[in-house]
Order: sequence, then structure tokens, then C-alpha cells
Amino acid sequence: MSVSRTRILGVGRAVPERVVANDDLAQRMDTSDEWIQQRTGIRQRRHISTSTGATDLGKIAAEEALRSAGVSAQDVDLVIFATLSPDIDWPSCACLLTQKLGTRNIPAFDVKNQCSGFIYGLASADAMIRAGRARRALVVGGEIHSTGLDLTTRGREVGVIFGDGAGAVVLGPTDDPDRGILSTHLHADGNHAEKLWLEAAASRNRPRIKPEDLDGDDPAGFPRMSGKFVFKHAVTRFPEVIKESLDANGLAIADLDLLIPHQANLRINQFVAAGLELDESKVVNNIDRYGNTTAASIPIALHEAIADGRVAADMLVCLAAFGAGFTWAAALMRW
Ligand code: UT7
Repeated sequence: MSVSRTRILGVGRAVPERVVANDDLAQRMDTSDEWIQQRTGIRQRRHISTSTGATDLGKIAAEEALRSAGVSAQDVDLVIFATLSPDIDWPSCACLLTQKLGTRNIPAFDVKNQCSGFIYGLASADAMIRAGRARRALVVGGEIHSTGLDLTTRGREVGVIFGDGAGAVVLGPTDDPDRGILSTHLHADGNHAEKLWLEAAASRNRPRIKPEDLDGDDPAGFPRMSGKFVFKHAVTRFPEVIKESLDANGLAIADLDLLIPHQANLRINQFVAAGLELDESKVVNNIDRYGNTTAASIPIALHEAIADGRVAADMLVCLAAFGAGFTWAAALMRW
């Protein structure tokens, strides 16, 4: 078969059962349901309640994606795991997942590119499939944030935003020139790395983590963000990369049926939609229920959009992300 494109064959997702409402956080820190909803659109997020790694959720999501694709774990010949919150420092989540799924001794690696990680993984799998290096690729985005957040008033700007979850897709080749991933677009700029980062544990330090990393006014052991700065870059980079993907295919915003953006802040997605003159009915938002699950947010949103019938055959769908790094990315596909 001549491979002209890569298609998504199946999608899965997994979120922990424990729902953490804004009011639950307000009991632990100086915040309020009103502030969180107004500034972010988040009503609740999911947090694990027992010891659970990104690959535990990733496994459940991957198994659903495999089932819906009609593909067995033995058929998978590439695993890519996007995460910034791996189960352990090393080896990779992708390696851990191959053991959990019982795949053959296939290539497996992690992508650590924060909110853009899933699209980076998708782009890598797409390139390998089109190059004939893989026929059944599993791309997973999985995150456990809740165990690494400062859920006191000191960490409230970040602590209220992140949630746990995982999503997965199975990809395969198609010779249908009109369907599948039309193009992917990846960008990074490390100039603003410190505007959203988690410094400790750091291999450049000896020891890598010190007691004071979890102490003091602004500890390096928790994620830190210059929220307004990140926001401004997000609302610039999102439309840029979405337009770039359309331009590359000779298409326009009016051709777009559905935008599935990373879920960092409802206001960001509304701002982007308004700037692009894209009707909000064409934008998938579920941050109200899950918060920001970084690399997992797009496959979770894609899963929901398929389940509720918002994604249908022949639709032009754009996935887009912006996040720490900074990194930003888009994938345009004809469903
Ligand atoms: O996924 C990766 C990409 N991430 C993003 O794109 C996130 C981008 N940034 C944002 O979404 C927003 O900047 C935030 C939601 C993080 C913050 O919203 P903001 O409207 O930019 O608020 P702010 O940081 O300017 O803070 C306004 C006030 C401050 O108080 P003062 O200085 O005005 O007295 C904060 O201390 O709100 C305070 N504040 C809070 N109050 C209640 C910050 N966090 C909270 C909180 N609850 N959780």
C-alpha cells in the first residue's frame, strides 16, 4: 500500500474518579469558586486519590484507543508517551507502558514538551508512519499533576489550574489522499523558559533537591508561572500556528469545522476564537471539568468531541497547543 497519509484509528481517555471542586480548594487556600471560574473557566478537576502514575492512566486510555481501533497491543509497533509528570524520573513512561500493555520489543520513547507534547508526539508518529517505519502507532498524553502542586495560598496561581488525566490515539497509514493528517507544525522558543517552569529536582544542582526547594516564598520544587506573560504569548501563538496550518494546505478559517485547542484557560480559547472570527460552537472546551491536563488535554477533548458527535467524517479538524518552553504546535486533519 502506498502511504499518503496517517489517520487516527482509535481514541481513548482516562481520568481519576476523584472530583476536586473549586470549593474544595478554597478550604485549603485563599481562593474562591468565583475567582477560579471567572479567570480560568474551571469548575472542577480530577486528582488521583491512591498511588497512580501517568502510565496507569495512560494504560487505561491506550487500551480504549486500541479497542476502538480494533488493534491489539501485539500489533503496535511504536509507542510515544507525552508527559511532563512521568511516573518516575527514568526510564521513560513509554518503556513502562510497553510492559503494562505487553507490546513486542518495539521502539518507545517519551516526549517532554509540556502542553504541546501530544502534538509533538502525533507529528513524530505521523512522520514515522509516512516513512514506512511504523504501521500501528500509539501516542499517549498522560499527566499526574496533583502530587506535585503547592495547594496552599502560596501556590494558588498554578495549583488551581492543573488536573490529572490521560488520553491516547492509535494511528495508522491510509492511501486515501483526502483523509487523515494533512500537516503538522511544531515550534519552540526557550527564551521564556523561566516564565513557566519547574526547576527542582535539577541535575545541575548537588544535591538535586534540597529541603528549601519545598520551602520559602517561591520554592523551586513547585511549578512557577508568570501567568499574564504566558497568557499574552498564548493568545498570539495559538492563532499564528492555526493559520500556519491552514495556509500550508491552501485553506482558510472559514473551512475549519472544529478547533480542538489545548485547555489552559477558557479565556485564552475564547480570545483566540474571537480573533480568528471562529464561531465558539466550532471550538471544543472542557476545561470546566478537567482543568489543565497539559499533554493529556487535547486527546481527552478529542475523545469527548468524537463521543458527543462533534467530530464526523470529512470534517476539517485542527488541534492546537501552546505551553511551557515556550512550545506551540498544530495538527490539521481531515476526519
Ligand atoms: O498550559 C500552559 C499555558 N498556561 C497558560 O496559558 C496560563 C496563562 N495564564 C493564565 O491563565 C492567567 O494568567 C491565570 C489564570 C494564571 C491568572 O489570571 P490573571 O487574570 O492573569 O490573574 P493575575 O495573575 O494577574 O492575578 C490577579 C490577582 C492577584 O492578586 P493582586 O496582586 O491583584 O492582589 C493574584 O495574587 O489574583 C490573585 N490570584 C488569585 N486569587 C484567588 C492568583 N491566583 C489566585 C487564585 N485565587 N487561585
